[in-house]
Amino acid sequence: MRIGIVGAGMIGSTVAKLWVDAGHEVRIASRHPEELQPLVERLGTRASAGTPREAATFGEVVMLTVPLAAMPDVARDLAAALRGKVVLDTGNAYEKRDGQAARDAASHPQGSAGWAAAMFPAARWVKAFNTVYFKVLEREAHRDGDRVGIPLAGDDREAVETAASLVRDAGFDPVIVGGLERGKEFEPDTRPYNTGMSGRELRSMFGSPVH
Ligand SMILES: NC(=O)c1ccc[n+]([C@@H]2O[C@H](COP(=O)([O-])OP(=O)(O)OC[C@H]3O[C@@H](n4cnc5c(N)ncnc54)[C@H](OP(=O)(O)O)[C@@H]3O)[C@@H](O)[C@H]2O)c1
Repeated sequence: MRIGIVGAGMIGSTVAKLWVDAGHEVRIASRHPEELQPLVERLGTRASAGTPREAATFGEVVMLTVPLAAMPDVARDLAAALRGKVVLDTGNAYEKRDGQAARDAASHPQGSAGWAAAMFPAARWVKAFNTVYFKVLEREAHRDGDRVGIPLAGDDREAVETAASLVRDAGFDPVIVGGLERGKEFEPDTRPYNTGMSGRELRSMFGSPVH
């Protein structure tokens, strides 16, 4: 699958490697794409670097993995390009880092993912990959036994299934929690956040059906 990743930081570059290794074509973006050359050389021939717009256009699925406070700018630049696409939102609201954006996102009735999704009309929004520290993703992908769980929330069932399949390809266990508003159950300061819980543990905590 062609995947665009907007944001080449800790999460973007880590998940890019996992997807390239799984056989996907990945275009990873920075506002300074020339600075990503060493990264794409490390990732191999299925990876390329581009601007955020190029990654958004390239991807059948697009991961947005920028600080939450950057979302309004990203929406201004990319909302049109992302109409109809599956968008994976890794964002978390941290007041210290994101200021007023974090306060607005935290008070949104559908949580921070709902706050972000509202800026991207017709994007098929899925909250994904927000709970696990990037070093855990790097270290625990494809581990034997119970895999680390990645909770997912979204209102478009087919988009959530696509996200689940990409979570599996990255080496983790997708746990479909429910509609977008249930993303509030795995934001910072919730029980599963940043614990590295397995899929089995998350399913039992959320009461999700085995998927
Ligand atoms: N770090 C983790 O372990 C972790 C785990 C789960 C979830 N998260 C969440 O995932 C999100 C990303 O976290 P991260 O730690 O990967 O961030 P990061 O390392 O700080 O990287 C963020 C990336 O966003 C890009 N960016 C910033 N402003 C932008 C804008 N206006 N337009 C386009 N790109 C912009 C930057 O790219 P350029 O400056 O190169 O353009 C940078 O590469 C955050 O909401 C974070 O809370 C992080």
